[in-house]
Amino acid sequence: MTASEPSTGRHRSIRSFVKRTGRITPSQARALRELWPAFGIDFSPHPLELDSLFGRSAPRVLEIGFGNGDSLVTLASEQPERDFIGVEVHEPGAGHCLLRIEETGITNLRLIVHDALDVLDEQIPPASLERVNLYFPDPWPKKRHHKRRIVNERFLTLAADRLAANGTLHLATDWENYAEHIDAAMSANPMFSLDERREHDGSRPLDRPATKFEVRGLKLGHRIWDWRYRRSVSGPDT
Ligand SMILES: C[S@@+](CC[C@H](N)C(=O)[O-])C[C@H]1O[C@@H](n2cnc3c(N)ncnc32)[C@H](O)[C@@H]1O
Repeated sequence: MTASEPSTGRHRSIRSFVKRTGRITPSQARALRELWPAFGIDFSPHPLELDSLFGRSAPRVLEIGFGNGDSLVTLASEQPERDFIGVEVHEPGAGHCLLRIEETGITNLRLIVHDALDVLDEQIPPASLERVNLYFPDPWPKKRHHKRRIVNERFLTLAADRLAANGTLHLATDWENYAEHIDAAMSANPMFSLDERREHDGSRPLDRPATKFEVRGLKLGHRIWDWRYRRSVSGPDT
């Protein structure tokens, strides 16, 4: 795999993550070695041929920052008629997710270990996705770090372009200040219109399973915000 190769870096230097040096367990390392050829996609700055990659034509869902992948594997197992692509920079998380893919026997999920913004920019073809999921993105709570938040104009422009007409963008956070940021960024954005917004106590997730970071936030006493936006018909490339 080419997970540690530098990205093209053509567009920007501010990243939405700091690469954690988390320990990889022996079984995660084994999964990354042995299962990557079947379920991993190496980053390269060329558009993917998704039909040949999955061996079929099907609606496609991209999940950004899947963490340990437990909720992504649950989604993919519940929806065998869809194909899923998970993007994460944290290799132990990808190793964990590969182990879950092996355990469940699902065949409709592929992983990319790279910055999701580069992946969207270079590898995901225009209008190829039915849905983009961004669940509990790193909150970057300090004001001087707000520029690292992944929900920004570049991300939204790329997501809108890669979504098919009527495609949906699903967001969730447990940080009130990030919820305010999302509300402001999305209402100022002409490429998406709001379908549904929920503020809840963890009991009413919107079209998704609970995630590890959601559970962590709830233990800290946080509330949860969920949104489903739809790509506006008047967006770019329509
Ligand atoms: C707070 S965690 C949430 C993980 C998971 N979605 C959950 O809810 O349990 C955010 C994750 O996003 C990943 N991440 C942040 N920026 C990313 C990027 N630009 N591309 C890919 N993954 C990213 C981080 O490595 C981290 O695992």
